[in-house]
This record gives sequence, structure tokens and C-alpha cells, in this order.
Amino acid sequence: MEEKLNKIKQEAIELINSSKLLDEIEEIRVKVLGRKGMLTDILRSLGQLTPELKNVVGKKSNEIKKIIEDALDAKKEELTKSGFSEIASKEWIDVTLNPPVSTRERKSGYLHPISQTQYEIEDILTSMGFQILDGPEAETEYYNFEALNIPKFHPARDMQDTFWTEDNNLLRTHTSAIQIRGIEKIKPPFRIMAPGRVFRYEATDASHEHTFYQVEGMMVGKDISISHLIYVMEEVLKGIFKKDVKVRLRPGYFPFVEPGFELDFSCMICGGDGCRVCKQSGWIEFLGCGLIHPNVLRAGGIDPDEWSGFAFGMGLNRLIMMQAGINDIRHFMSGDIRFIHQF
Ligand code: DAH
Repeated sequence: MEEKLNKIKQEAIELINSSKLLDEIEEIRVKVLGRKGMLTDILRSLGQLTPELKNVVGKKSNEIKKIIEDALDAKKEELTKSGFSEIASKEWIDVTLNPPVSTRERKSGYLHPISQTQYEIEDILTSMGFQILDGPEAETEYYNFEALNIPKFHPARDMQDTFWTEDNNLLRTHTSAIQIRGIEKIKPPFRIMAPGRVFRYEATDASHEHTFYQVEGMMVGKDISISHLIYVMEEVLKGIFKKDVKVRLRPGYFPFVEPGFELDFSCMICGGDGCRVCKQSGWIEFLGCGLIHPNVLRAGGIDPDEWSGFAFGMGLNRLIMMQAGINDIRHFMSGDIRFIHQF
């Protein structure tokens, strides 16, 4: 019996010594010490022995069991350590090297200059009680033209040709399209603004682009006059330029306002003396505006005998170009990161 035990021990130790994988260690453990293992067999048969032998063999078996267990544990530790060092030798990294591009520098994103200015104007106007509306970029002819007092075959349509869809809708040519959508739903008195992207069928050049941005504004109430309009415009400009800005009105034709104006502000660059930016005039063209035409109020379900109001529509691109000295409107949509990074 003792011989058998010694043989088991020897065999187990040899197996352990020659094993190279952690899995093998576990296999040996099961083979020798498991429920059906070699040593367990012996322990199980102790019952058949005389009490004396049982003692001796039992003791010896337990000694061997302990030796084998210790050997297994030691080998396991050894293999685990060498496994790590193998991984370390294969998969080492040089921490002094530049990290890969993806992790090198995480620059946080920021807003496009158009968005920055748009949000600034939104803040200024909402502080004066204007609520922000939105409208679709693909519009119906009705909202973009007809409801704004521009019937079919009206010559004013020629100034705003655009992209048409096959089902006779169009990409809106101005944010004025949001006017009627807005006032159909809101009861006067109200102050609304609508920023957005607009489209024109343009031959592009440094100052013309097929896609650009506007902000529309509208105030309807009792006895609203041009002085309200001028006040709001001055406040917007003061907010943008952080100082008082002089404005002037010139007559301008827009079918949806009567009277209609072009509003200019005094040139910030030369202080009104005349320079290249203001084309020596001392004034910068800023936006179109006027008192809302009665037909437009009617189209929105508002009685022009009871209510009146002003409207304005400003282009964002030109404003930013003036502010930042940008000489080509096409930069805005170019997607060139070097342009965006300057703001
Ligand atoms: N929609 C006009 C354009 O894109 C700008 C404009 C002019 C808007 C007069 C208005 C306005 O609200 O009253 O050229």
C-alpha cells in the first residue's frame, strides 16, 4: 500500500514538474485529488484495512496529499508569474512615445460663428420678450410667397429664385416664411423671432451663397409704430457691438411690409467717416424691415384695423463678415476647419 502511495506521489510530482500550462495544473489536481482521483481511491479503501494499517496508511496518504497540494500550488504560482512576464515581454508599451492620434489631444468642440451670433441675437431679443419660433426649411409656396403678399407672377419672386422640389414645394428663400406659420397659431399681442437657414438659386461668388442664415423678427400689438422698430433694432445692435450704434432708415421695397425700409447702422470701423468696409458711405446695410402689410396680417388671421406691427429680417453671414473682416461668404459653408478655428 505504501509503495502504491509513493508511486502516486512520484507520478503526481513528475506531472506537476513537467506541466507548462495553468490548465494542466487543474487537470492534475482532479486526476490525483479529485473525487475519482488516484489518492482519493486509496483513502476510500481505508475501510477495508485493519485499524493499525488504517492509521499508518491514512497518515501517509494525508502527508502525500499535502505534499502534492503544496507542489500544485507552488507550480500554479510559478506559471501565473511567468505568464505575466510573458505577456509583459510580448505586449510592452513604451510610455515615453507619443500616444496614438486618437488619444493624443482631445479638443472640445465649439460653436460655428453663425451659431454663436445667432444665439447672441436670440438672447438679446428674448430679453425683450421675443419668443423663438422654428419652421421647415422645405416650405410651401404659400408660406414663402403667397401669404407674404407675393402672388404668383409677382416680379418680387424673381429676386428670390430658389430650389424647387418635384411636388412644387421649395427651399425657403427667407425666414419671413415663418411669419405666417407663427401668427396663425399665436394671438396678438406678440413678439416673435425666427432664426434659420435659407436658400437661393445663386451664382455664388465672394458675396453670394446659395445657403445662408437669417433672423426674422416680428412685433404685433396696439399702435405699434416705426419708433418701436427703431428702438428694438438699436438694442439688438447695442447688444452685438457692446456700444451705442446709430441707425438710419432708407425706403426699401418688400411686398410684405408697408412702408418698407432698408436699415443701416453707422460703420463701426471708421466711426462713420467712410472706409473700405462701408464703401466710403459711413453706413453699413443691416436689414430689411417695415410695418407689416395688412394683407399679411389678414393671411395670419389678424384684423389689421385692430392690430399693427413691425417686421424685420437680417442676414447673419454679412453681419459676421463685417464684424470679423471675412472677405468671402463661401468660407461659412466650406467645412474648412482652419476657418472655423479662428472664432
Ligand atoms: N425677407 C427679406 C429678405 O430675405 C428680408 C426682410 C425684409 C424681412 C423686410 C422682413 C421685412 O421681415 O420686413 O430679403
